[in-house]
Amino acid sequence: MPGFELFGEEERKEVNDVLQTGILMRYGFDGPRKDIWKSKLLEEAICKKFGCKFAQLVSSGTAALTTALASLGVGAGDEVIMPAFTFVASFEAVISVGAVPVLVDIDDTLTLDPGAVIKAITPKTKCIMAVHMCGSMADLDALLKICKEHDLLLLEDACQSIGSTYKTKYLGTLGHAGTFSFDFVKTITCGEGGVVMTSNEDIFRKSDGYSDHGHDHKGIDRGADLHPFVGYNFRISELHAAVGLAQIRKLDEFLKIQRKNHQELKNILSEVPEISFRKIPDPSGDSCTFLSWFMPTEELTRALVTELMHQNILAGNFYWFDNNWHYIRKWDHLKNGATLNTLNDPQNEALQKIRQTSFSVSDQVMSRCVSTAISLIWTEEQLKEKGKKMAGAIKKILSKHGVSA
Ligand SMILES: Cc1ncc(COP(=O)(O)O)c(C=O)c1O
Repeated sequence: MPGFELFGEEERKEVNDVLQTGILMRYGFDGPRKDIWKSKLLEEAICKKFGCKFAQLVSSGTAALTTALASLGVGAGDEVIMPAFTFVASFEAVISVGAVPVLVDIDDTLTLDPGAVIKAITPKTKCIMAVHMCGSMADLDALLKICKEHDLLLLEDACQSIGSTYKTKYLGTLGHAGTFSFDFVKTITCGEGGVVMTSNEDIFRKSDGYSDHGHDHKGIDRGADLHPFVGYNFRISELHAAVGLAQIRKLDEFLKIQRKNHQELKNILSEVPEISFRKIPDPSGDSCTFLSWFMPTEELTRALVTELMHQNILAGNFYWFDNNWHYIRKWDHLKNGATLNTLNDPQNEALQKIRQTSFSVSDQVMSRCVSTAISLIWTEEQLKEKGKKMAGAIKKILSKHGVSA
């Protein structure tokens, strides 16, 4: 997810515009800012590019999820169904609004298994948080149908899938609200930043206020703004938005390179018939930030990871099953309720349930999965060499374990 790989003059120019006025804040200071409004311009660009009516920039993807949940009215006692493979921000946001994280299995799309979602629905379920992991998408037809039938809200976490589409619509714009992260390792970056997207004006107004201390942004100055509700400070700065403005203009180019490199690497790895690839609900919409693939068994995957390490080619290949950030297996702090402040009773009960739940279906998928990050700056030679070395290492392990000739 490498927007930072192609960082240059365009970003510097946008940042310099802001530095020249010295107005680093996105709101107010109308005179001295000399009509430089980078956050507003980036919000407009997001609406135009992704096809949502409203966009609220915030300080991170985590802040975007928190803001979206609050604006959707998700709070104490409400259950939010989310996948067992995601990023820690998913449950952090749910817990921070007082709601209850309900973790369910993923399938070979590496995203929510719709069947597992249906099984997890209770009278307290309010929202399904679909997390479009690793550049690709969840089965949105299935999830939208479930939401409609059960009168649930759909929040799309598209933080890792900026520019992916599902049946021609951009991820993050199909649910009631959607989020992107613009942190340093995302497809386009602000350094730090995030956005809540929606086409519902009420959700947008709430996101706008919630991310800025509840300000209604209608006063003649900030001191005159009213506060229809309590909010927090999740504001983005003009400097960060300036970087994002340069990056969003490059997004199509980034996607083009990613898709080309992804296809070439996939072609090389496809020469090994024993490996299979992640299921993608709409292959033409994959943003291709990662190529995710499966070895036949966990044992073979572990042997391969060791081999890649020995050959010094593990970098850029992620074995999420052992990763402390992304998979339930390693989230002891969540399972043990290790929070600094006291959780509410429904949250404590939910965590106890998570401790007792087997995620063996997800384990079956994740223990065999490797995701290879796609770089924008590989040369043709580097790409071919990487693919050849990876295919060679896979074949070596398979043959060593008697799986192929
Ligand atoms: C799926 C997902 N959601 C949310 C986030 C949080 O984004 P941020 O780092 O901007 O808070 C991330 C960050 O990696 C992510 O991968």
